[in-house]
Amino acid sequence: MNTPTSNQPRRTLLLTGASRGIGHATVKRFSAAGWRVITCSRHAFPENCPWAMGPEDHIQVDLADPASTRDAIAEVKQRLDGGELHALVNNAGISPKDEEGGRLSTINTTLDTWQQVFQINFFAPVMLARGLIEELKAAKGSVVNVTSIAGSRVHPFAGSAYSTSKAALAALTREMAADFGRVGIRVNAIAPGEIDTAILSPGTDKIVAQIPMQRLGTTDEVAKIIYVLCTETSSYVNGAEIHINGGQHV
Ligand SMILES: NC(=O)c1ccc[n+]([C@@H]2O[C@H](COP(=O)([O-])OP(=O)(O)OC[C@H]3O[C@@H](n4cnc5c(N)ncnc54)[C@H](OP(=O)(O)O)[C@@H]3O)[C@@H](O)[C@H]2O)c1
Repeated sequence: MNTPTSNQPRRTLLLTGASRGIGHATVKRFSAAGWRVITCSRHAFPENCPWAMGPEDHIQVDLADPASTRDAIAEVKQRLDGGELHALVNNAGISPKDEEGGRLSTINTTLDTWQQVFQINFFAPVMLARGLIEELKAAKGSVVNVTSIAGSRVHPFAGSAYSTSKAALAALTREMAADFGRVGIRVNAIAPGEIDTAILSPGTDKIVAQIPMQRLGTTDEVAKIIYVLCTETSSYVNGAEIHINGGQHV
């Protein structure tokens, strides 16, 4: 792993949804490599998920609310103080279920739920990337959007609003790679399969039996690919969506 040397300025990552799961593993990976990590989520800094400088660099935001998202963008700009943003990782996402924990389909998803899912999973990433384009441009930075295997096939547990929002986020990645690539910002996506986090549903073991690698992925296995997409190793990768799923998509 690269750590900054005395002649290399400290790099900064803005990460949404950092309080647990894939986001927490991503914080650990980047901060271990010497990055400053500014985190965003609805709750206050999670004491059970600590990292150096965490409390000072945590921003409370509800990405379901466009006004709160705009305030958070202003707050990030202030904290960067005209400086560079080397990476933006749009990781926060929700996957609502019905009252019994069942899958929400195209028939029983309310419009309110559909809009909330799209606001968090799709519109917040585009708002953040556009809002911080000057800071990303200054750093020749990198954007990583966290999509899902459910964005490209019907999934037994992931709902229709979630899956379509992730399909839209994959398409957004392609569009942004074309537009942002021209100003030196790379935009890629990672599409996790079944990763061992709280988002998984009971019954996932049946899916695991069909995955070529016969196991769940770990959050660190996702975080290390996000790290590669934000660093020099991937300097000519733009507009890619990388599957991290043990071969589940084949
Ligand atoms: N786990 C998997 O197997 C899997 C598979 C495919 C894709 N993914 C994707 O990977 C990403 C991370 O998944 P995960 O399993 O690590 O999720 P998770 O454990 O449910 O964590 C979600 C994160 O998003 C934040 N968040 C949720 N709603 C928010 C809001 N309205 N405003 C701001 N932050 C919000 C949460 O923090 P607060 O509660 O503090 O707001 C939390 O930090 C998601 O985009 C998910 O769709 C996961």
